Amino acid sequence: MSGPRRRRVTVLGLGAMGRALASALLAAGHPTTVWNRTPGRSAALAEAGAEVAGSVAEAVAAGELLVVCLLDDDVTRRVLDRAAPVLAGRTVVNLTNGTPERARRLAEWLTERGARHVGGGIMAVPSMIGQPGSLVLYSGARDAFLDWRDTLAAFGEARWLGTDPGRAAVHDLALLAAMYGMFGGFLHATAMIRAAGVPAGEFAPMVTGWLTAMLGALPAMAAAVDSDTHDADGSSLRMQAASFGNLLAACRDLGVDAGLVRPVRDLLDEAVARGHGEEGLSVLVGLLHTGGTHRPAPG
Ligand SMILES: NC(=O)c1ccc[n+]([C@@H]2O[C@H](COP(=O)([O-])OP(=O)(O)OC[C@H]3O[C@@H](n4cnc5c(N)ncnc54)[C@H](OP(=O)(O)O)[C@@H]3O)[C@@H](O)[C@H]2O)c1
Repeated sequence: MSGPRRRRVTVLGLGAMGRALASALLAAGHPTTVWNRTPGRSAALAEAGAEVAGSVAEAVAAGELLVVCLLDDDVTRRVLDRAAPVLAGRTVVNLTNGTPERARRLAEWLTERGARHVGGGIMAVPSMIGQPGSLVLYSGARDAFLDWRDTLAAFGEARWLGTDPGRAAVHDLALLAAMYGMFGGFLHATAMIRAAGVPAGEFAPMVTGWLTAMLGALPAMAAAVDSDTHDADGSSLRMQAASFGNLLAACRDLGVDAGLVRPVRDLLDEAVARGHGEEGLSVLVGLLHTGGTHRPAPG
C-alpha cells in the first residue's frame, strides 16, 4: 500500500550547505529537484534520486516548496528574479544568510508575485544537517511554515520565531555574533599562549573548561539586562578594567596584536568613566545601542 503523495521540493543552490539540505530531503524520501549556477555539483544527488533542472525557471516550476541556499541576499534576489513569472503559488523558504531588512523586502516582493515567504537561519554546519543538534530558525508566513513543517524537519529541529520575516535573520546574526566573539577570544588567547611557548593543544582543554564555566553566567546576565539592574556580583567593572590593562600590556610584551580584544577594554573604560564602575558586565549592553532601526517583534 502506498503512502500519501509527497509534494516535490526544489533546492536552489548546491554549495556545501545546499548539497547537505538536498541530501537530507532525499534521505527523508521527499521528491527533490535541484539547481545550481555551475553544473557538476549535482552528480551524487542525482545518483540519490534528485531531478537536476537545467534552468532556474524549470527548477522553480517543478517544486511546490523552494528551499533557497545561495551565497547572500543579492544572489538570492538575482536568481529568484529569473523565475519571477513562475513563483505564484509557491512557498519560498530562504535559508541563505542575510539581513532582517532584506528578508522583509524579499517577503514583500514574493507576496506581490503570489508566493509565500519563510525566512530561515541555519544554526549548523553542513555535516550536522539532518543530525541531532541541528537547529534551523524560521519566521514569516506562519501558514506556509505549518504547511511544510514536517518536510523542513528533515534538516533538524525546526524552530518557529514569529511572523516578522526578519526575525529568523536577526536571531541567526546575533548567534553568529556570539559565536565569533567566542572564536575571536579563543584565537587571541591561543596567539598569546603560543607566543609564551605553550602548544595550542596543551592549552585547549584549559580554555574549554574556562569558557564552559563562564557560560553558566549568561542566564543571570540576560536577566540583569531585562531588569536593568546590574549587580557586580563580586566582579566590578572597575576591577575588570584594571585587569584588562594587564592583558593589553602582556600582549605588547608577547608581540601579539590586541585588535580582537581592545574594543572590550574601550567599552569597559567608557562604562567606568560614565559612573558604572561598581556595576557588572551586563550594563555594557546598554552602551552598545546606537539608535538604529529597531522593530518591535510580533509573535
Ligand atoms: N557552510 C556553512 O557552514 C553554513 C552554515 C550556516 C549557514 N550557511 C549559509 O548557507 C548559505 C550557503 O552557504 P554554502 O556553505 O553552501 O556556501 P558555498 O559553498 O560558497 O555555496 C554558495 C552557493 O551560492 C551560489 N552562488 C554564488 N554566487 C552566485 C551567483 N552570482 N549566481 C548564482 N549562484 C551563485 C554558488 O553557486 P556556484 O556553485 O555556481 O558557485 C553556490 O551554490 C550561505 O548564506 C551561508 O551563510 C552556511
